[in-house]
Amino acid sequence: MEKAWKQVCAFSLGAMLFVAVQSQAAQEDQTQEGRQIYELRCASCHGLEAEKLVGKPVQYLADRMQDIKRMHDPLLEKMRRMQQALEPLSDDQIENIALYLHKLQ
Ligand code: HEC
Repeated sequence: MEKAWKQVCAFSLGAMLFVAVQSQAAQEDQTQEGRQIYELRCASCHGLEAEKLVGKPVQYLADRMQDIKRMHDPLLEKMRRMQQALEPLSDDQIENIALYLHKLQ
């Protein structure tokens, strides 16, 4: 009887570990995708180091990007160009960039 419980415990622990490792790997993939998009479409203005954006909360970064993406007829030329950079990106891709910038040190 006791042995059976030990097996159940070992199994649950293994399952939890597996889930934790899986979700960490998934987040690394997301961050990686965010980095590629950022370097391609955003670094020209914000710089490879993204000084002003680094470490801000993911939600804040994603919200600002969505605001600018939806901005109606931005007056500033730079804002128009940033909007063009955001235009083809999905919500998931925007989230991934936010994740990347949040973690970048
Ligand atoms: C043509 C230049 C340009 C490009 C390209 C550009 N941005 Fe921007 N971005 C700006 C300017 C200008 C501002 C507003 C002033 C500021 O906060 O520096 C801004 C603001 C932001 C903000 C809000 C910052 C804050 O703290 O409120 C975020 C987040 C951001 N950009 C992310 C991005 C991402 C991600 C990309 C690529 C998809 C991108 N930008 C591409 C020029 C650009």
